[in-house]
Amino acid sequence: MLYKMIPLSLNTFLISLLHALLLSAAAAAYNATDIILLNCGATSNTTSLDGRNWEADTNSKYSPFNDPNTSFSSHATRQLPSVPLVPYWSALIIRSKFTFNFPVVPGPKFLRLYFYPETYSDLDIATSFFSVTANSYILLNNFSASLTVPAMVPPAAFLIKEYVVTVWDSQMLNVTFTPSPGSFAFINAIEIVSMPSVLYAHGSEIPLVYAEGGRSFTLDNTTALETMYRLNVGGKQIENKDDTGMYRTWRQDEDYLVASKWVAVYNLSDSPIKYTPDTPEYTAPKEVYTTLRIMGSDSQFNLKNNMTWSFTVDAGFCYLVRLHFCELLAQVTNRNQHVFNIFINNQVAEESVDVFDKAGGSGIPIHKDYVVLAGNGIKAKELQLELHPCPSSTYDDAFLNGLEIFKLNGTAGSLAGPNPNPVSSPQPPELLPESPKSHEKSKILPIMGAILGN
Ligand SMILES: *[C@@H]1O[C@H](CO)[C@@H](O)[C@H](O)[C@H]1NC(C)=O
Ligand SMILES: *[C@@H]1O[C@H](CO)[C@@H](O)[C@H](O)[C@H]1NC(C)=O
Ligand SMILES: *[C@@H]1O[C@H](CO)[C@@H](O)[C@H](O)[C@H]1NC(C)=O
Ligand SMILES: *[C@@H]1O[C@H](CO)[C@@H](O)[C@H](O)[C@H]1NC(C)=O
Ligand SMILES: *[C@@H]1O[C@H](CO)[C@@H](O)[C@H](O)[C@H]1NC(C)=O
Ligand SMILES: *[C@@H]1O[C@H](CO)[C@@H](O)[C@H](O)[C@H]1NC(C)=O
Ligand SMILES: *[C@@H]1O[C@H](CO)[C@@H](O)[C@H](O)[C@H]1NC(C)=O
Ligand SMILES: *[C@@H]1O[C@H](CO)[C@@H](O)[C@H](O)[C@H]1NC(C)=O
Ligand SMILES: *[C@@H]1O[C@H](CO)[C@@H](O)[C@H](O)[C@H]1NC(C)=O
Repeated sequence: MLYKMIPLSLNTFLISLLHALLLSAAAAAYNATDIILLNCGATSNTTSLDGRNWEADTNSKYSPFNDPNTSFSSHATRQLPSVPLVPYWSALIIRSKFTFNFPVVPGPKFLRLYFYPETYSDLDIATSFFSVTANSYILLNNFSASLTVPAMVPPAAFLIKEYVVTVWDSQMLNVTFTPSPGSFAFINAIEIVSMPSVLYAHGSEIPLVYAEGGRSFTLDNTTALETMYRLNVGGKQIENKDDTGMYRTWRQDEDYLVASKWVAVYNLSDSPIKYTPDTPEYTAPKEVYTTLRIMGSDSQFNLKNNMTWSFTVDAGFCYLVRLHFCELLAQVTNRNQHVFNIFINNQVAEESVDVFDKAGGSGIPIHKDYVVLAGNGIKAKELQLELHPCPSSTYDDAFLNGLEIFKLNGTAGSLAGPNPNPVSSPQPPELLPESPKSHEKSKILPIMGAILGN
C-alpha cells in the first residue's frame, strides 16, 4: 500500500509541477473567451505554421441557413512560396449572398478576413468583386482582392483584413458575402478573437485633431474599426503568436518613415517594463516598448527637422491614431528633460509631451490616442505623423515606441473604401528585385549611453 502510494503522489506532484511550468510558459496577458479559426473550403482540420488549429467547415456548422448551391469549395491552382498552405490553399467560392453565423459572447471582437487572390476552379479572380458585412456594419463594398493585393506596401501576395466589431446581446456575429452583379466572392479563412472590452473604444473622450476650439471625439462600442497600421516602431516584426493573446501582428515601421537615414533605432530589450492599470499588460507586448525610434544626439539637426511617418489612408473617414511610448533612456531622470510636440496632418495634436512625467517614471508604458479626419486639403489620402523636440526640453529629441491606426466607420456604419487603381504589372514578392534589408537602412545601436547630447 505504502509502497504504491509514495511513487503515485510523487508522480502527481511532478505532473502538477510540470503542468504549472507549462501553464506559466503559456500564460498570456489576455485569455480570449472566443477564438474561432475557420479554414473556408477546407475538408479537414489543419494546423498553420504558427501552430494553431484551423477548423474545416465541413458540416456547414457556421453557415446552416444558406442554399448549398450558392457556394463551393475550391483550392488555389498555384501556391507561391511566400503563401502558407494553411489557411490560403483552400477557398470558398460564393456565387450569391452567403452568411456565416458565428456564436460568440457579447463584447468587442477582432474579425480577420484572409484573402489570397489566385485562380480557383478556372475562375478569373480579376472578375471577383463583392461586399462584406458584419452584423450592421459594411466592411467592404465592391471589393477586389486582386486590385488590392498588388498595391500593398510592403509587397505581399495575400491580405488579412482586420476589423473590431462589437457584438451585442444577439450573441451572433453574422458575416455576409454578397457578390457584385455578375461576379463572385471568395474567402480563404475567417478568424474571430475576443478582446478586453475597453482596449480601443472605451467610451471616453479623445482629442480631435483639426477641430477649431479643441473639440473632442467620444469613441464608444457602437463604432466599428478597421486596422490600417500596427507598428513596432524601431523594432522587428512581432508575429501574431507573440502578441498579448489577441493574435495581432506588429510590423516594422521603416516602410512608412520619411528620411529613415536620419533616425537611429535603439534596442533596449533587457529593460524591465512596468505595466499599469491605465496601460495593462495586454495593451501591447513588451517588445513594442523596448524598441523605439529616436531622433538622435545631433541637437542642431533635430531642431531643424521633424521625425516623420506617412501613411496611405482612404479620404473622408475619421482615424483613431494610438501612439505607444515608454521612457527608457538612462539620462532621463526627471520631468522636462525629454519633451516633444506631436503633429498629425500638419496640425498640432499635442504640445509638450513629457512621457516620463505622464507615466510617472522610466520603464512605464503609456499610450496616447487622437482622432483625425482624413481628406481635408491636397494630401487627402495621406495621414502624416510628425514629432519635433520641444524648445524647453533639456534634450532636443523626440521618440516613439509603437503605433496603431484604425479607420472608424462613417455615420452610415460603413468602413468600405474604394479599390486602388490597377497596378500596371502585379508582382508577387518572389518576382520583385531583392529590396535592401531593413537593418542596412538604419543604424541599430544597442547601447543607450551615447544617445543624447553626449
Ligand atoms: C491566462 O491563462 C493562463 C493559463 O490558465 C493563466 O496562467 C494566466 O494567468 C491567464 N491570464 C489572465 C490575464 O487571466
Ligand atoms: C476540428 O476543430 C474543431 C475546432 O477546434 C473541433 O471542434 C472539431 O472536433 C475538429 N474536428 C475534427 C474532425 O478533429
Ligand atoms: C441545387 O442544384 C440542384 C441541381 O441543379 C437542384 O436539383 C437543387 O434543387 C438545388 N438546391 C436548391 C436548394 O436550390
Ligand atoms: C458597450 O459599452 C458600454 C459602455 O461602456 C458597456 O456598458 C457595454 O457593456 C458595452 N457593450 C458590449 C457588448 O461590449
Ligand atoms: C444573424 O443571423 C441569424 C440567422 O439568420 C439571425 O437569427 C440573427 O438575428 C442575426 N443576428 C444579427 C445580429 O444580425
Ligand atoms: C466595381 O468596381 C469595378 C472596378 O472598379 C467597376 O468597374 C464596377 O462598375 C464596380 N461595380 C459596382 C457595382 O460598383
Ligand atoms: C534586440 O536585442 C535582442 C536581445 O539582444 C535581440 O534578440 C533582438 O533581435 C534585437 N532586436 C533588433 C531589432 O535588433
Ligand atoms: C514640423 O511639422 C509641423 C507640422 O507639419 C510644421 O509646422 C513644422 O514647420 C515642422 N518643423 C520642421 C522643422 O520641419
Ligand atoms: C458607426 O456606425 C454606427 C451604426 O451605424 C453609428 O451608430 C456610429 O455613430 C458610427 N460611428 C461614427 C464614428 O460615425
